[in-house]
Amino acid sequence: TQNPAEIARIRNISTVQFGKYDLFPWYFSPYPEEFSQEDVVYICEFCLSYYGNLKSFTRHRHKCTLQHPPGNEIYRDDLISFYEIDGRRQRTWCRNLCLISKMFLDHKTLYYDVDPFLFYVMTCRDDKGCHLLGYFSKEKESADNYNVACILTLPQYQRKGYGRLLIQFSYELSKIEGKLGSPEKPLSDLGLLSYRQYWIENIVDLLLEYHDKDDRCSLDTIASKLAMTTQDVEHTLQAYKMQIYHKSEHKIIIPNSQLESHEKRKKKVRRFIDPDRIQWKPPV
Ligand code: ACO
Ligand code: ZN
Repeated sequence: TQNPAEIARIRNISTVQFGKYDLFPWYFSPYPEEFSQEDVVYICEFCLSYYGNLKSFTRHRHKCTLQHPPGNEIYRDDLISFYEIDGRRQRTWCRNLCLISKMFLDHKTLYYDVDPFLFYVMTCRDDKGCHLLGYFSKEKESADNYNVACILTLPQYQRKGYGRLLIQFSYELSKIEGKLGSPEKPLSDLGLLSYRQYWIENIVDLLLEYHDKDDRCSLDTIASKLAMTTQDVEHTLQAYKMQIYHKSEHKIIIPNSQLESHEKRKKKVRRFIDPDRIQWKPPV
């Protein structure tokens, strides 16, 4: 039996209290039906369990001992930690994560069958624990070589460069695996904007590097260096009008306008994933 709100896809939760933040969901998420009657849904920011009233939530917070996602820490720098969580081993936690994520994602419908996925969860550390910033999920075995199934930055942290870090991390994992990766389609509008930005920036960086060495850089070189599929490389070059056909040859160029926006972007970006700090081997 399907929840009527689900069929109509009406936003069913009005406010969520999560850690020290109030979140205002964008879309329907399949929390139990009675939760849509509550003014506020309280979510424990560590174990992600949800409560319809403050009293039971407070009681839970006194008992809950979790201070970071229930998996292995595979990356740590001065601020950020990444955890890898197996959907099969941490079914409830991962389902709860998907319920949160569905509030901000319209077109994905994964919430119950989390077993085939690994979850890469990005947190920031302070004296209280590791606070969830965002995550991406990844199929343990993807027939289409997708390196991301779902990606989310919690709304209170959006537009601060964390999405870019998540995307970079997903490609760093693909580089370690020696595979070319691509996010699962369709992308949301925000997903496409963020990926486009990541792709163009890294492609231009690489082209400039080759240009400095007086070397030519082919589509395939870009793809393998960045662990991107050649299709994503080609679409990006097309979108930014960076391919020309000259004397029966395809050439990649960087228009001046693109160089300028590249410079501007580089000035803004402060934080990167340091690949040397990733402690991870592809799961066997
Ligand atoms: N408007 C315009 N451009 C944007 C916006 C926006 N709202 N959001 C991101 N961008 C572009 C910008 O170019 C931005 O760079 P800039 O801020 O330097 O201009 C770039 O993307 C990267 O932005 P970040 O701050 O790194 O990204 P953020 O942390 O906000 O996360 C994400 C992006 C994950 C897509 C976030 O918007 C989100 O969680 N959205 C809801 C869920 C979703 O749609 N996920 C993707 C679904 S597709 C899939 O899962 C495969
Ligand atoms: Zn808890």
